[in-house]
Amino acid sequence: MQPRPFNKPVLLKAAVLIVILGAAAGSAQAAEPISVDRQSGLLHLVRQDCGSCHGMTLKGGLGPGLLPVNLQDKPDDTLVDIILDGVPETPMPPWRPLLAPGEAAWIVTQLKKGLK
Ligand code: HEC
Repeated sequence: MQPRPFNKPVLLKAAVLIVILGAAAGSAQAAEPISVDRQSGLLHLVRQDCGSCHGMTLKGGLGPGLLPVNLQDKPDDTLVDIILDGVPETPMPPWRPLLAPGEAAWIVTQLKKGLK
């Protein structure tokens, strides 16, 4: 029996898998791995820098409260956009220079769970 150079069904499955993986990598920003060191740096940033306006316990100050009860009804995407780009005409600054989109998404997840 002649060895077949290509196994079509397997190649097709591989191609489909590559397309699926590619799409997942493109859309799931939150899936970027964030190192443990960076995570503690981000939590420090949230407590210090965000806390300077949102209150040291995030109950609100110059900016609104960022506790789970304040954020639970707001879509993650909206909150991520606010963190990255700020809110024009208000004191909320854009954090894009300091935070990757995946990091902003991670912060939103932590805020919605409640910081430890
Ligand atoms: C200089 C003050 C200031 C700092 C620093 C600041 N914020 Fe804000 N933030 C605000 C204000 C004021 C608003 C309300 C804007 C408005 O009127 O819509 C706001 C709004 C928000 C909202 C939307 C809340 C909601 O309920 O819609 C989120 C989320 C948020 N900030 C997260 C952050 C995070 C995370 C940081 C730190 C990385 C941060 N902020 C740092 C002032 C600040």
